[in-house]
Parts: sequence; C-alpha cells; structure tokens
Amino acid sequence: MRPILLFFIIKSAILANIFAGSATTKSMEIKGDFAKTKQCIRCHLDIYEEYKNSPHFKSTTKNDPIHKAVWEAYKSAKNAKKYVCGKCHTPTVKDLRLINSQKYEEEYNEAIACAYCHRIEAIKEHPKANENIILDKKGVYYGTRNPQIRSEYHKIINTNLIHKNGDTCMGCHSHKQNGNGFVVCKTDSNNTLEQNCITCHMPQVEGSLSDRVNTPTHAFHGFAGVKNNPKMLAKYVDLKVIPKNGYFLVEIFNHAPHKLLLHPMRAAKLIVEIYKGEKLIKRVEQIFERVIGKDGKPTPPWVADSVIKDSMIKAKEKRVVKIDEDIKGKRVVAKIGYYIVKPALAKKFNLEEFAKLTILKEVEFKRD
Ligand code: HEC
Ligand code: HEC
Ligand code: HEC
Ligand code: HEC
Ligand code: HEC
Repeated sequence: MRPILLFFIIKSAILANIFAGSATTKSMEIKGDFAKTKQCIRCHLDIYEEYKNSPHFKSTTKNDPIHKAVWEAYKSAKNAKKYVCGKCHTPTVKDLRLINSQKYEEEYNEAIACAYCHRIEAIKEHPKANENIILDKKGVYYGTRNPQIRSEYHKIINTNLIHKNGDTCMGCHSHKQNGNGFVVCKTDSNNTLEQNCITCHMPQVEGSLSDRVNTPTHAFHGFAGVKNNPKMLAKYVDLKVIPKNGYFLVEIFNHAPHKLLLHPMRAAKLIVEIYKGEKLIKRVEQIFERVIGKDGKPTPPWVADSVIKDSMIKAKEKRVVKIDEDIKGKRVVAKIGYYIVKPALAKKFNLEEFAKLTILKEVEFKRD
C-alpha cells in the first residue's frame, strides 16, 4: 500500500473513533474524586464559555480579589490553619489544611467545578451552614431534560427535582452562621418549579447544550449576579415615579424572593435627579444596606454578633421613597444601582475598582 493512502486510512480511523466516542474513553477517565472541568469543554463549549466568566469559576483567592482580601484579613485575625472558606468556594478540595495547599493546587483551581454541582444529590440542613451530599458515583451527572436525552459519553440522571427547583443552590447559598451563633448572611428562598434560583439566575439562552445533539437553547451558566450580566436580572426590579400634589414618590419593587443584595459588603443606591429644562435643580440619594457588627459598631463578619442597621430592600418588598418637590413642568430621572463593595470598605481593603456604581435600572418621567 502506498504510504499516503495508509496515512489516510489511519487518519480517518482516528477521526471516526473520535466522533463515535470510543476514543473519548481515555479523556473521560476521572482522576481524583471529580472529573475536571476541562474534560467537559469538548462537548459543552457554549456552557463552558459562559461558566468561565461566572462567579463560580472565579470563586477562588486566585481569581477573586475581593474574596482574597477578606480571606487574608480572616487568616491573620484568626491565625487560621485551614482554608475554611473552601467548603463553598473550592468544594472539590478534600484537605483544606494550609500546609497542604501546594499539593492540592489543581483542585483549588477547579473552584466550583461542573462535576461538583452536577453531582449534588441532596442538601442536608444545619444551623451553621447547610451541607451538600454528593452522589457517590463518578461520571454520573444530574440533569433536568426529559429522560429521552441520553449521552453515550457519561450517565445522566434526570429525575432529581432539586436540579430543577433550585434547592441544589441552597447547600452553599442558604445561610452562614459565625462562631457567635450569629447569621452573617442568608438567602431567603421561595423555590417552586415555576420560579426559583435557576429560572432567574440561569434562564434558557440561545445555543445548544452540547455540540453532539442540537438543542435550540441551554441554561445560562454565567450565573447572572452583581458581577456578571446584572442586566439579565433588571426585569425583576421595577422602578416607578408616581406624581402627587406638591411632591412625588419613587417606588422600587424587588421581585426577588430574597433581599435585593445579600452580601454584607454590598450596598444599593437610589439616585433621583429633577431637571427644569436642561438644568439640574435637585438631586436626592439614598443608600440601602445591611450592616453587621458588635456593640453598635460595624465589624468583620467573624466578630459580628448583631445587625446594626438594615435598610436593604427585602424580598418582594415595594419600597416607597417620598421626595418633597413639585414636579409640575419638570423632568425626573430615577436610577437604582449598587456598589459591589461599599466605598468605605473598598478603601480599607484596597478594592477601589469594585466601588464604582453599577446602574441596574433607570426611568425618566416628565410632567407638563
Ligand atoms: C464526549 C462528549 C461529552 C463530554 C466530554 C461531556 N458531555 Fe455532558 N453531555 C453530552 C451529551 C451528548 C449530552 C446529552 C445532551 C444532548 O442530547 O444534547 C450531555 C448532557 C449533559 C448534561 C445534561 C443532562 C440533562 O438532562 O439536562 C449534563 C448536566 C452534562 N452533560 C454534564 C457534563 C459534565 C459535568 C461533563 C464534564 C465532566 C460532561 N458533561 C462532559 C456529551 C458530553
Ligand atoms: C457556607 C458557604 C460559604 C462559606 C463557608 C464561605 N462563603 Fe463566601 N460566599 C458564599 C456565597 C454563596 C457567596 C455569594 C453570595 C453572596 O454574594 O451573598 C459568597 C461570597 C463571598 C464574598 C463576596 C465575593 C465577591 O466577589 O464580591 C466574599 C468576600 C466571601 N464570600 C468571603 C468568604 C471568606 C473569607 C470565607 C471564609 C473565611 C467564606 N467566604 C466562606 C458562601 C460561602
Ligand atoms: C424573581 C427572580 C429571582 C429569583 C427567583 C432569585 N433571585 Fe437572586 N437575584 C435576583 C435579583 C433581581 C438580584 C439583584 C441583582 C443585581 O443587583 O445584580 C439577585 C441577586 C442575587 C445574588 C447576588 C447578591 C449579592 O449581594 O451579591 C445572589 C447570590 C442570588 N441572587 C442568589 C439567589 C438564589 C440562591 C436564589 C434561590 C433561592 C435566588 N437568587 C432567587 C432575582 C432573583
Ligand atoms: C453552580 C452549579 C453549576 C455549575 C458550576 C455548573 N452547572 Fe450545569 N447546570 C446546573 C443546573 C442547576 C442546571 C439545570 C438548569 C435547568 O434545568 O434550567 C444545569 C444544566 C446543565 C446542562 C443542561 C442544560 C439545559 O439547558 O438543559 C448541561 C449540559 C450542563 N449544566 C453542563 C455543565 C458544564 C459543562 C459545566 C461546567 C462548565 C456546568 N454545567 C457547571 C448547575 C451547575
Ligand atoms: C458549592 C457551593 C455553591 C453552589 C452549589 C452554588 N453556589 Fe452560587 N456561589 C457560590 C460562591 C462561593 C459564590 C461567590 C463566589 C465569589 O464571588 O467569590 C457564588 C456566587 C453566585 C452568584 C453571584 C453572586 C453575586 O454576588 O453576583 C450567583 C448569582 C449564584 N452564585 C447563583 C447560584 C445558583 C443559581 C446556584 C444553583 C444552581 C448556585 N449558585 C449554586 C457557591 C455556590
């Protein structure tokens, strides 16, 4: 046989194998407790591209400067020997002792891996923080499509309701209590099949869920939030200007089942500007925040034992702000936005780049 033909035959055989999936057996081999995220890329490229920009991929001290700054402060204040944050921020790392951090570098870089989330079998409730119970089978992933969807490359279980009703998020997001028995953060949930964490934060977007079998849409894996794709969530916050005699109201309606912002480092801000012609004649600002601390003073979460102030807009709350200004013949511009890190805290932690105001929604109202 001529060498060129032989080459062609071998090459086609390899290609055929790749497409048939049998050549994937080796690349699908799972080393350690969880498959690595890079092993999913080949077939779930669209999902991976979104995930790469998500807070779940950037949950590590290496990729999240805010997390790093707070962890460093915690570490020195508590003289920590263990990366206790790893339970939620790097859950595939089994041994969180700092002396071993070099050894588990690869697992640390996996952050909140594809395979980890897709093997959450159940959530066990605890007062301190909930716990994820992991399916004891490597290479088997929970999905939510109808049972007809099959992958010959890995097993799928599509009957576990928690991956559809959002309860799968509650192992890490539900709440966290500190050493004083004080709940430092909490996400209220009202999960139903119709509306839950997944329907709002992982809506179906264009593009196939895998490169193998075409689906018109797939669940968004960028996890819309304050850092990534906030505009996706803007429709769940209504902002209205309501004129009255001699004054007006600005109404903010939070449709989320949880407080508008959850992390204690954040703050929301309402800005209202009143114009006559082109001239700005009045500007009103209001901050909404939850401050935790001790003895009436703000403190880091590990010291706090009480809520010092809580003006944050609550779950499903309609917050009304009254502004004493007659708007007849004037124009009102109202904006609701937020700081990822409150400016004062940002200064303290050297995180000024996160103290820029992001506008979530803006409305204009004109009265002749
Ligand atoms: C060689 C290709 C291939 C690789 C690699 C691969 N998958 Fe899949 N996966 C598929 C196919 C095919 C489907 C079926 C979906 C379809 O029909 O489009 C699927 C479906 C899924 C589903 C959805 C099931 C449902 O019912 O909603 C999940 C979840 C999933 N894969 C997770 C993973 C994870 C996690 C990895 C990496 C550890 C991975 N996959 C790697 C091919 C692959
Ligand atoms: C029980 C799970 C859990 C543990 C344990 C945990 N976190 Fe988190 N952390 C979360 C969740 C969930 C979020 C995102 C939700 C939010 O914004 O409220 C988050 C967000 C953060 C943020 C905001 C990140 C940003 O980019 O704005 C910081 C900072 C943070 N965590 C620090 C820590 C530190 C430091 C530790 C360890 C001392 C820790 N966390 C332990 C669950 C946890
Ligand atoms: C009705 C839609 C809706 C549902 C349901 C919902 N959220 Fe949200 N979520 C929002 C909105 C709106 C925001 C504020 C977004 C912003 O400002 O970027 C938000 C913000 C967040 C944030 C960021 C808060 C912060 O301080 O950084 C996290 C984390 C979050 N949601 C988690 C969850 C979890 C977990 C669930 C399920 C219990 C859930 N959400 C259910 C709409 C929703
Ligand atoms: C934080 C948890 C989490 C992470 C991390 C995660 N997923 Fe998912 N994934 C889910 C949930 C929940 C669903 C179900 C969404 C639904 O039913 O709308 C899902 C759905 C899917 C689907 C089916 C999509 C559809 O529209 O039916 C595939 C495929 C998938 N994930 C693959 C991956 C891959 C690959 C990665 C990593 C690049 C990944 N997931 C990371 C939670 C996660
Ligand atoms: C293994 C723990 C874990 C699970 C499970 C998990 N998350 Fe997260 N999530 C985190 C952590 C930790 C962060 C913060 C990462 C950071 O910024 O450092 C986060 C961040 C987020 C954010 C961004 C918050 C912000 O401030 O913008 C959203 C939105 C979110 N998660 C939604 C979800 C949804 C929806 C699910 C369920 C499908 C889910 N998460 C499951 C741990 C988890």
